[in-house]
Amino acid sequence: MKTRVLSGIRPTGMLHLGNYFGAVKGMIQLQDDPDRETLYMVADLHAITTPYDPRVLRADTRSVVMSYLAAGLNPEKSTLFVQSDLAEYHAQLSFYFSSVTSVARMQHLPTYKDKIRQHPDNVTMALLNYPLLMAADILVYKAGLVPVGLDQEPHIEVAREIARKMNAVYGLNFPEPERFATSGEYVPSLSGEGKMSKSVVGSYISVLDDLPTIQKSLARAPTDSGTGVSEDMPVSVKNLLQLVELFQGSQRRQEYEVLYTSSGIRYGDLKKELAQAIYTELEPIQQKYRELEKSSEYVEQVIAQGAGKARQITQQTIDETKQAMGFG
Ligand code: TRP
Repeated sequence: MKTRVLSGIRPTGMLHLGNYFGAVKGMIQLQDDPDRETLYMVADLHAITTPYDPRVLRADTRSVVMSYLAAGLNPEKSTLFVQSDLAEYHAQLSFYFSSVTSVARMQHLPTYKDKIRQHPDNVTMALLNYPLLMAADILVYKAGLVPVGLDQEPHIEVAREIARKMNAVYGLNFPEPERFATSGEYVPSLSGEGKMSKSVVGSYISVLDDLPTIQKSLARAPTDSGTGVSEDMPVSVKNLLQLVELFQGSQRRQEYEVLYTSSGIRYGDLKKELAQAIYTELEPIQQKYRELEKSSEYVEQVIAQGAGKARQITQQTIDETKQAMGFG
């Protein structure tokens, strides 16, 4: 049997480099592996766990589908779908999962704590349930492998715990999913703190940014005088070098590290070169994206076909689970 792979991205604005390296590159790699069956969704149900605008959500959902296609996900090889098209399965299973999960376990997750700090007026049940819905996304397909960024590891751990509980209590056969790590899984924020994130202005480069925009974003990234001892290198400079490594290779990074302890890094030149390298990688994706914007029927068809394929799997898992839990 092929290992099933599931992943998703929340449609909150354009995809950025963090999504691209943390998730999409891994998704593409797994799609080309004949031993895997890949399912990739747009996690639009998860988008309502933080404040949102329905019109923007609809547009962002399509935009993520187009970004998937533009980046190289292939509907012939992967099932591409929108989570809310299967809401009755995903949400239903997450409700069943809530019966084997304690409130305290959910309240202690770092992602939950971050979000209630960011949105103190939006401490909702949906937010608390976020990890259960994610566990349901994965387990409704009995997926064993999940390509997501490092920050999602606590959620995968929750999914494993739930799988174990459901199997022990109800005699079901959910797999315990593992995270699939991509090489560039940690993309740092341009602000010098934490990871690249859509919720922090000035921290990210979008997959659709043009060269001048990338240059401007990099120009704002904090640096230092350009020389010093490597042990004292500020995080902001390490972050820039991390991006150099991702886009220009580890050798270029090492050259800058040597410069740092000798004649000094000229950040103006570094940023110019880096901006060009990032744009070179993104340009073909942007071109495909623009083409897809003109073929909305094709995108609709991909989404409808994906929902149909996904449903064939979800129905069976729900039937088994209901049966085991004493329903029907
Ligand atoms: N929580 C994930 C993120 O923010 C998005 C997501 C929702 C997801 N459901 C999923 C990822 C299921 C993998 C599998 O990146």
